[in-house]
Amino acid sequence: MTDNCNKCSATAPINVALIKYWGKRSDELNLPAGDSLSLTLSSLRSTVTVAFHGDGADDLYDVVGDPAKARRVVSRFRELTGIRQGLRVKSENNFPGGAGLASSASSMAALVTALAGLAESMPSEQQLAQLARLGSGSAVRSLLPGYVLWQAGQDLQGADCRARTLYPPDHLSLKVIAAIVDEGPKPLGSTAAMTLCRDTSPFYDAYLESSKRDLRLLRQALEAKEFAALAEIAEANALALHAVSITARPPVIYLKPSTLRVIETVRQLRADAIGCFFTIDAGPNVFIFCLDRDLERVKGRIAGLAGVRDVLVDGPGGEAAITQEHLF
Ligand code: PMV
Repeated sequence: MTDNCNKCSATAPINVALIKYWGKRSDELNLPAGDSLSLTLSSLRSTVTVAFHGDGADDLYDVVGDPAKARRVVSRFRELTGIRQGLRVKSENNFPGGAGLASSASSMAALVTALAGLAESMPSEQQLAQLARLGSGSAVRSLLPGYVLWQAGQDLQGADCRARTLYPPDHLSLKVIAAIVDEGPKPLGSTAAMTLCRDTSPFYDAYLESSKRDLRLLRQALEAKEFAALAEIAEANALALHAVSITARPPVIYLKPSTLRVIETVRQLRADAIGCFFTIDAGPNVFIFCLDRDLERVKGRIAGLAGVRDVLVDGPGGEAAITQEHLF
């Protein structure tokens, strides 16, 4: 990039996993225990602005949620670049603050992209992904467009832990609806919950094994554009994440009664030949993938359910990008 840019903004979209990342092989390096596969969305985004504000000054964080993740990324960025000036970091989302959609992936992807704009030489894609991963593992997928495979690898330092786009955003003609049923904070954050599941759920190892199989089958379905198979596998994989969470000790129960109502309705719609399926992250809200042609019907049914507070519609989309650089 340039050597006299001292303020930079970048934006990155959220991504939704079809095969979930749930468990780490290294807590310290934030390396996943298994491979995951997601779709990067288009409009639901975080924007992060970083700016120098004086030599040796303390960093200032005005960010959505806990600043600890951003601090970890910034501190590693300093080690890599030798930059000593204090930084101001500001993040915002273009979706309602309390919508209950996790934004750590999009905000960490936007953060590293903005930081790259401040560096004298552009870090490599792999370095950016490693930086983003320290803040949020799933952020590596928000750096890339379309259907993204994030491979866990085996190297102890994570050299072979990489993400790549398998298919562009337009591989399938679909939309993604976020059904918001609860806007409050989660009972337990994903990092703590993953550790608890690994250490206490009797089903954790079985979960990792079945996830490998899910990934293999889902990749075949995606390649062949077989929507029905995609639907069955993605739903089963999401429910497996919740099965392993519910069986942790103490249990981590993210699902609410209204979550179950959405699940049931999506399955009814599919039985009526409407092209849709659900997936759920570590929270009560539901993402519904549906064929373009069925969007209005699915949206109408879901929006009318008791307990559904909002429905946000997005589509497959692009990667993180710098939006503004200020040169002095
Ligand atoms: O990246 P993290 O640490 O916020 O973990 C996200 C994990 C899930 O969203 C639950 C699943 C996934 O693959 O995105």
